Amino acid sequence: MSSAWSNRFEQGLNPAIECFNASIGFDITLLQEDLDGSIAHSKMLRDCGLLTAQEAAQIEIGLEQIRTESAEGTFQPDVKDEDIHFAVEKRLIAIIGSLGKKLHTGRSRNDQVGTDLRLWLRRRIDELDDFLERFQRALLTHSQANVYTLIPGYTHLQRAQPVSLAHHLLAYVEMIQRDRERLIDVRSRVNISPLGAAALAGTSVPINRRQTAQALAFDDIYANSIDAVSDRDFAVEFVGAASLIMVHLSRLSEEVIFWASEEFSFVRLTDRCATGSSLMPQKKNPDVPELVRGKCGRVFGHLQGLLTMVKGLPLAYNKDLQEDKEALFDTVSTVQASLEAMSILLEEGLEFCPERLASAVESDFSNATDVADYLVAKGIPFREAYQMVGGVVKRCIQDGILLRDLNLAQWREVSPSIDADLHEKLVPKQVVASRLSEGGTAFELVKEQLSYWHSRLGAPN
Ligand code: ARG
Repeated sequence: MSSAWSNRFEQGLNPAIECFNASIGFDITLLQEDLDGSIAHSKMLRDCGLLTAQEAAQIEIGLEQIRTESAEGTFQPDVKDEDIHFAVEKRLIAIIGSLGKKLHTGRSRNDQVGTDLRLWLRRRIDELDDFLERFQRALLTHSQANVYTLIPGYTHLQRAQPVSLAHHLLAYVEMIQRDRERLIDVRSRVNISPLGAAALAGTSVPINRRQTAQALAFDDIYANSIDAVSDRDFAVEFVGAASLIMVHLSRLSEEVIFWASEEFSFVRLTDRCATGSSLMPQKKNPDVPELVRGKCGRVFGHLQGLLTMVKGLPLAYNKDLQEDKEALFDTVSTVQASLEAMSILLEEGLEFCPERLASAVESDFSNATDVADYLVAKGIPFREAYQMVGGVVKRCIQDGILLRDLNLAQWREVSPSIDADLHEKLVPKQVVASRLSEGGTAFELVKEQLSYWHSRLGAPN
């Protein structure tokens, strides 16, 4: 078989066009799924009376031999094969003879490629869930160890109010949980079978689409054959969900990068995940979070690429759709590698510095809200209390002191309703402990959240 196309063609392709057209260089990634899909298709053809039992059995043996050859590294299609679908068909014919030519009955590469891609993505989504869970568990381990470790909480990257470090880290656990839920949701639309839609219109061959769908563990079949071969919404949605995973990893990366700076020194990077400088001997660089932050660009780019690829396409299949694969493959490998690296970073690449964190929360005005809340409890309207405390903070800054340095007499000048118990309420631990509103950072609530996550994710590592 020189080419898989019909006799209508007389001349060979220009070699440059042959290369330009071919997808085998990357869609070889879909080999396992192409074989799985073809085996299911061949069994269905048998059950519909389109192949004998013996023919289907021989086709399956041939396809399984290709799987073995690929494991052994001897299945090596080249650009002449154009794509994975032709490469498998050609090899099958070489192995079992002209019987292999019956396999393509009642299907087209258009529904075939859509089937392969969905099967492949479904597997990757399931693996990604494990990567996401490992990352959550790594966060949970640090959270467990740091319920009573305080860290300044920021808004506008200005010290706002102290929080439990566990509370801060559990915020990421929540984000990742949403990512997992989003992937489950995307998976439900990935898991619909286009197989049997054929080129676009269905087929006159009496096939059974539900049989192949069931054999390949799809939840359903596409109701409309034109939609089946032209839909790439699932790919766009997946890369959208993947982009949000990268956003979450990147936000943590950014925090780790400045936490590790001399100026913050909230974390120390261990030698396991940090690198040195070729020039400056004192340097220890946070390459892992920097790379993760940088890799967001390629994933967001793939999202843009896919949206642009589909936006002007008339129905149904167009060759433009061949461009979906590299975007999906690279998105999956980037997100998996980033999740793995960030998990390792948490597992063995960084240590929080409790002494630095403790002195950070002692040395600022992040308990100012608590004075205002104290005055509110004494019956002063919040906005008034807020103004009063603002004045106190201003004077403290002028005098180079903190709120806790004021004595009771000085506080009483601010408001006679202030008693000696205010002092105790301004201690950072007390400030955190008092944030008891649902979802707040009070230690009691954080511990409840930890046990909730332990029951969901299992005991900490
Ligand atoms: N290599 C093609 C792709 O990735 C397979 C489908 C080709 N179909 C076609 N009618 N040329 O989209």
